[in-house]
Amino acid sequence: MDILKPIAVDNWHGEINNETAQEALHALEHGKIVFLPQLNFTLSADENSLLSPALTDPKRKNISFNPRSGKTSGALGSILQQVQLKNLLHRYHQHTLALINSLFPSYQKHLTAGRTSLRTVEIAGRSSSYKKDDSRLHVDSFAATPVNGLRILRVFSNVNPHGVARIWQTGEPFSTVAKRFLPEIPSMSAVEQRLLHLFKITKTPRSLYDHFMLNIHNRMKKSIAYQQSVIKTTLSLPPKSSWIVYTDQVSHAAISGQHVLEQTFYLSPTAMHYPETTPLFVLEEMLKHSLIIKNKEMTPSIAEEEY
Ligand code: SIN
Ligand code: FE
Repeated sequence: MDILKPIAVDNWHGEINNETAQEALHALEHGKIVFLPQLNFTLSADENSLLSPALTDPKRKNISFNPRSGKTSGALGSILQQVQLKNLLHRYHQHTLALINSLFPSYQKHLTAGRTSLRTVEIAGRSSSYKKDDSRLHVDSFAATPVNGLRILRVFSNVNPHGVARIWQTGEPFSTVAKRFLPEIPSMSAVEQRLLHLFKITKTPRSLYDHFMLNIHNRMKKSIAYQQSVIKTTLSLPPKSSWIVYTDQVSHAAISGQHVLEQTFYLSPTAMHYPETTPLFVLEEMLKHSLIIKNKEMTPSIAEEEY
């Protein structure tokens, strides 16, 4: 079965017929990548000149924008360039919000925007610790900003001006990944949870869901044997295209490429049409107990981390 679900949408208001929208939603929640080959995010000539890794703080993987505060981080360059970068990220945020609202109208009430990012650093050859190495297959999970079961939905657009595709790999379905790694992960004690919060390692208490997801993320990336032996599919995501994916569910790796925009959204698992496909449901079924902190405020902090 093909991991990509191509959908013919060529504008950011995402006008598609009802039947196609249903198919897109089914594919998305079942761990496919909704691929929009004709959906280009157009940059002005001025904005194209911002596509330089020299404008990204060398300590970071990308420039990010927090739509709630309106602040960017990781951007270098002149004041004018910083304003242009912020405007670009803000516009991408607005476009992706319009896209998700019209492609998946049932999500509308449940969407919380996370950060927006511009990734101009070539992935191939980028050095990093194994935990930050996105060229290894992984599912997304944030160490400092627990999601307490919320989904991580991401929109990407390849804005490479030199015709270069972004190369991704995908691995096994989430349930297979979970079966492989969950049995070896010890649970988290209440003491550990309190200490992580007390020492501000996490912004809010880490739920068991976050504990298991982060461990799966780290253990997938750490195991060279797993990375080498698991069956992978290689995808070429061309310039002038966009794609939408639940990165907490789809095992993915970014192998090479330069210049993408990305927007993260958080969604309650109760907003899903197929709740049995969520990582939360899969893990709770395997462990036979609840993994989230009940009655917790559901607006997550915006992850600054770059997993
Ligand atoms: C990732 O989410 O692991 C990286 C995706 C990308 O930058 O293409
Ligand atoms: Fe990732």
